[in-house]
Amino acid sequence: MNTKILKITDSSLKLSKNLILSDELVAFPTETVYGLGGLATSDVAVERIFKAKGRPSDNPLIVHVHKNYDLERLVEIEYDYVYNLIDAFMPGPLTLVMKSKGAVSKSVTCGLDTLAVRIPDHALCQEFLKYLDLPIAAPSANVSKHTSPVTAEHVYDDLNGRVEIILDGGKCSGGIESTVLDVTGPTPVILRSGLVTAEMIKRVVGSCEYASSSEGEPVRSPGMKYTHYTPKCATVLFERNELPLAQKLYDDCLGKGKVPVFLCDDKVSHKLCGEKLLLGNTGEEIASNLYFRLLEGEKIADILIAIKIDTGSEIDVGVLNRLSKACKPYDGSDILENI
Ligand code: TXA
Ligand code: MG
Repeated sequence: MNTKILKITDSSLKLSKNLILSDELVAFPTETVYGLGGLATSDVAVERIFKAKGRPSDNPLIVHVHKNYDLERLVEIEYDYVYNLIDAFMPGPLTLVMKSKGAVSKSVTCGLDTLAVRIPDHALCQEFLKYLDLPIAAPSANVSKHTSPVTAEHVYDDLNGRVEIILDGGKCSGGIESTVLDVTGPTPVILRSGLVTAEMIKRVVGSCEYASSSEGEPVRSPGMKYTHYTPKCATVLFERNELPLAQKLYDDCLGKGKVPVFLCDDKVSHKLCGEKLLLGNTGEEIASNLYFRLLEGEKIADILIAIKIDTGSEIDVGVLNRLSKACKPYDGSDILENI
């Protein structure tokens, strides 16, 4: 199949609907990252999503709906605080994990009795979902383990030939995936951090916890146990107090004829000498640029030398979670031997 990138117009929406109703896949923009969408009620479509991504079969998908869709067709809302969260953050970069009513394909939830649902806050995405008026299962539109896409071209680079069309909505503004929040108990539990932070949730609900990932305990969000977000070049991540070490590695790489590139925020940039990909200053800016820069970096660098961020923003938790999974921590070993 020849994947086409199309602007969102009446005719591309019509084509998308025909494809979705025929169990084919359509990639679409959201405010966080691009999604690889298929009809959530169709076993065939959901199977195609897992296959196109090479996604492990025990990692459930998020179902996307438009803002006027009645969520209670899909899930049971068991606690009153959930209505307050919906009022405060939906549409928005928040995914709620609730008790499933079994209205979608079993493969969406990988056999779990809960279902993750999300209402994206993106005008063109809302237009697409409203036009379909159907629940759309969609993981991030990348090959499993690779960095998530924030432009239509990123999706094309990963999934050309595996998705019929990519609806082009420009660069996603949020830049990291939605916060995944389990609301099946009396206290909401963050399974994946994102732009809706624990503090924001506490301000609405009064309490919020992070899922514990202690060894031996079952993983509450299956996706969290896999490698994620990794660019195709070598990577290494330094603490902010390790800049001289980072500089030494950069210089050693150059000395051996390799192409090193720094990935850092604007504040530490002047303390490093060499080619840099800058992430910006504020938590929001850095989140918005992170995947874009990682995907830019893998095209030009043999090794990305990243520096941890610290803006003091609540969003840093989500950004550091992605950065630490995308880039390997520096362990003093001879990285140069392996690039
Ligand atoms: O921003 C986003 O959430 C993007 C856009 C496209 O909406 N989607 C996204 O999907 O990041 P994906 O598949 O890459 O990540 C979904 C995460 C995984 O970590 C998965 O394990 C978790 O949500 N998840 C899905 N259903 C779940 C459930 N029933 N219980 C616990 N975790 C669940
Ligand atoms: Mg993903």
